[in-house]
Amino acid sequence: MRVLVTGGAGFIGSHLSERLLARGDEVVVLDDLSTGSMENVQHLVGADGFRHHIGSALDEPLVAELMDSVDCAVHLAAAVGVRLIVERPTHTIETNVGATENVLKAASKQRRPVLVASTSEVYGKSASVPFAEDDDLHLGPTTRSRWSYACSKALDEWLAFAYHREKGVPVVCVRFFNTVGPRQVGRYGMVVPNFVTQALLGKPITVYGDGEQTRCFGHVQDAVEASLRLLGSEVAVGHVFNVGSDREVTINQLAELVKERTGSSSEIVRVPYEQAYAEGFEDMPRRVPDLAKLERVTGFRPRTSLEQIIDDVVAELRSKGVGGA
Ligand SMILES: NC(=O)c1ccc[n+]([C@@H]2O[C@H](COP(=O)([O-])OP(=O)(O)OC[C@H]3O[C@@H](n4cnc5c(N)ncnc54)[C@H](O)[C@@H]3O)[C@@H](O)[C@H]2O)c1
Repeated sequence: MRVLVTGGAGFIGSHLSERLLARGDEVVVLDDLSTGSMENVQHLVGADGFRHHIGSALDEPLVAELMDSVDCAVHLAAAVGVRLIVERPTHTIETNVGATENVLKAASKQRRPVLVASTSEVYGKSASVPFAEDDDLHLGPTTRSRWSYACSKALDEWLAFAYHREKGVPVVCVRFFNTVGPRQVGRYGMVVPNFVTQALLGKPITVYGDGEQTRCFGHVQDAVEASLRLLGSEVAVGHVFNVGSDREVTINQLAELVKERTGSSSEIVRVPYEQAYAEGFEDMPRRVPDLAKLERVTGFRPRTSLEQIIDDVVAELRSKGVGGA
C-alpha cells in the first residue's frame, strides 16, 4: 500500500512513516517543516519506498497530485501546540481547516481512505470524564484564542464526516490525547519534553497553574499502532476514536515522576497561567479518554507505562547531550 502522510516530518508523522515502511508499505511525506524537521526522517531518506516533498498541505494542486499517486492518506499536518495557537490564532485556523479541506477534496476524486488527526482538545472544558466520542463538546468563548485550535479540529471532523456522507470518502477521525515520546519538542509548550529538559539541566521544573490539573500521557508508538489498526479497519469508517492512555496523573505528580526518573535535584515551581500564556488563559482541569470504542473496534489497549515514556524521552535527550552525556 502507498500512503500519503501529511505532517510526516513531525513527531507522530515520523514514527508513523517509520512503521509503515517497516511493514512494507510505501510512504509519501508532505511537510512544510514549520514545526517538524528533516532530522526526524533523515534516517528514512533513501530507504526503499520513501519519498518526501517539502511543501504545504495548503497548496491544493500539490495535495491533489500527491493524492493521485497513493492508495490512502493519514492527515497529520496542522498548526500544533498550545503556545503556537495562542500566539498565532489566524495561522492555526487557516492551516487546520484549509489543509484538511484540500486533503478531503483530493481524496474524494477516487474515494481514497483518509485518517484525519483530531485532538482531545475538542472536548473543551467538559467535566464529565472519561470523555466518550459521542459526548457533547464544551468549548470556551470565541474571544479566547486558545479554543480556536479545538474549534478548527472539530470543524475538520465535521468536514471529514460531510465528505464521507456526501461524497463517499472513507474517513476515520482520531482524537489524540497527550502523546509523548522521542522527537517531540518542548518549544511549543509540550509538557513532558519541557519537564525532562529542565530536570536534566538542573533548572526549576515549571508547573503552570496549581498543578492539580490532570492529563493522561500515551506513548507515540501506541498512538501509531492504534492509528494503523484504524486505518485498516472497515468498521472504523465514518467514526471518531479516542487514542491515548487512560492513566490519569496530575501535572504535580508528573513533575515528581520526572524528578525521580532523572535523579534530578531541580526544584518544582508553580507559574501562574497569566505569566505563562496571556491573561484569561483557560485550561481543562481533567482530560481522560474513554477507550472502550477503540478497544471494541481494534482490540487495542495502550501498552506503555508513563515511567517507560519518561525513560524514553530522557534517553533521547541525553543522547543529544542535554544535561551532559
Ligand atoms: N502530539 C500530541 O499530543 C497530539 C495531541 C492531539 C492531536 N495531535 C495532532 O496530531 C497531529 C500531529 O501532531 P504532532 O504532535 O506530530 O505535531 P508536529 O508539530 O510534530 O506535527 C505536525 C507536522 O505538520 C507539519 N505542518 C504544519 N503545517 C503544515 C502545512 N501547512 N503543510 C504541510 N505540513 C505542515 C509540521 O511541520 C509538522 O511536521 C496534528 O494534527 C495534531 O493536531 C497531536
